[in-house]
Amino acid sequence: MARLDVVETFHGLMFSGHLHTQNSLELALKFPFQDTDIIIASYPKSGTTWIQEIVTLISNRGDPHMSQTVPNWTRAPWLEHYYFSVILEASPTKTRVITTHLPHHLLGPALQGSKAKIIYVSRNPKDVVVSFYHFHKMANFLPEPGSFSEFLKRFLEGTLHYGSWFDHIKGWTSQTATMNNLLHITYEEMSMDIQGAIKRVSSHLQSPLLEDEVNNCVKNCSFSSMLDNKMANYTLVTEDIMDHNKGSFMRKGKIGDWKNMFTEELNQYFKSVFDSKMEDCILEFVWDEQDKDETNANESH
Ligand code: A3P
Repeated sequence: MARLDVVETFHGLMFSGHLHTQNSLELALKFPFQDTDIIIASYPKSGTTWIQEIVTLISNRGDPHMSQTVPNWTRAPWLEHYYFSVILEASPTKTRVITTHLPHHLLGPALQGSKAKIIYVSRNPKDVVVSFYHFHKMANFLPEPGSFSEFLKRFLEGTLHYGSWFDHIKGWTSQTATMNNLLHITYEEMSMDIQGAIKRVSSHLQSPLLEDEVNNCVKNCSFSSMLDNKMANYTLVTEDIMDHNKGSFMRKGKIGDWKNMFTEELNQYFKSVFDSKMEDCILEFVWDEQDKDETNANESH
């Protein structure tokens, strides 16, 4: 199934036809979750692959064998992708780990009453849009991104694939008050204190680890380890689908790279939209490297 230029519109959102069909999206909304499932939810480019690695490592008490021998899309398959059920069946993990980019307003009904352990990972939206822009250049199943200012406009309007970042983050994080099976963690928190982040995730998954095991997780989920890990760095994906000459999935892995793309004018434009859309939201963000020691990234739990 190539369908690289096909776009599926589903509930008003666009999805790549290379990975999704109307049927796979419909099935995702009706998926019978089990209380033992682990669900990783995120807007694209927020640190999904990183959390997949962390969850795999925690489940294996820091032993990297599985994360280095099984592709991440097999050990933590995407709920909405057309091959999901086949892969889930073949997944070697003891506990099912399911990844999704779907917004909460679509997936909420299927999760109603479920005790599945959910991890929602978010990231400073300025770094998300920059990472997503570069990813559009290399991913042949996504449209050409055009100029960065055009791309940013579409991001802020919510018309890119997977829809509005604002709806996504507000939809999922608003559930933390009532769903104690939902952990919200940020890319910045993982960046600033990976040890602490791993402990929070392992405690949420009720998989406490010994200090040595935590240290092994830290070592094996570092940017440099994942950059070298074919099972996580997407180099197994063929050139026709991801053009590895145009970029690397494991691109920079940094906080604050937005500064290399945003002009002052784009920054003001971003701020005006962000301030109005996030008016009703108390989340705080780490905006750049300098901020990171001062800002409390643990927004809501
Ligand atoms: P950049 O493009 O800014 O480098 P996702 O997995 O949600 O698609 O997110 C991809 C982003 O997470 C990329 O960001 C990638 O480099 C970054 N990333 C993945 N693993 C990481 C790690 N171990 N440490 C830091 N960043 C990581």
